[in-house]
Amino acid sequence: MNTDEQKRAAGQAAAMRLPGDAIIGVGTGSTVNHFIDALADLRDTIPAAVSSSEASAQRLRRAGIAVEDLNSVNEVAVYVDGADEINRLLQMIKGGGGALTREKVVAAVSKQFICIADESKLVHTLGTFPLPVEVIPMARSHVARQLVRLGGRPVLRESFVTDNGNQILDVHGLVIQEPLALEDRINGIAGVVSNGLFAHRGADLLLLATAEGVQEFRRP
Ligand code: A5P
Repeated sequence: MNTDEQKRAAGQAAAMRLPGDAIIGVGTGSTVNHFIDALADLRDTIPAAVSSSEASAQRLRRAGIAVEDLNSVNEVAVYVDGADEINRLLQMIKGGGGALTREKVVAAVSKQFICIADESKLVHTLGTFPLPVEVIPMARSHVARQLVRLGGRPVLRESFVTDNGNQILDVHGLVIQEPLALEDRINGIAGVVSNGLFAHRGADLLLLATAEGVQEFRRP
């Protein structure tokens, strides 16, 4: 299986695991797009979805699935999303697509988080993928200086505005030995909206597509 076939396999495996008649959370990215495509056949069993991005919301509607505002939903049974990197503790770097803040919010209200990924995403130590940090535009330079003090090399994502009207700094050069502490530290910088470390709210289940098929890993 090539990478795209692996992404499709992971997306289809997640679709097979959804509880019936429950509101689901849907993330963002090319792996999730395969998941959404697999939902089209299940549309009669899914009352509604909440989405972490405008792009996914549009794709869900095209698949015949109603999209609700998160504020009008009491409970999200399961959130399905991809990752840019994931370790064996099921802590992740996310936000390659720039939707990290909404992804964090939907993940926070969901009872279960299923991460779907191709095998290239599994790493021993997080940080090779540049860590996305969403910032309020007027705070960009201040946040960048603080990120340099933490040992990173922040690079502004050019010509990109998040769904929340903010900017993204992609932080290169971090070797993230303590994801929980770094997530807190970056969130504590004034002007940061959120960062792409999903350590406090990691995944509960990883469906990792490999050449041998889809493997399951649970949060230890
Ligand atoms: C979106 O902001 C990200 O968190 C995605 O979940 C992540 O970039 C994975 O994307 P792919 O599935 O396209 O690799």
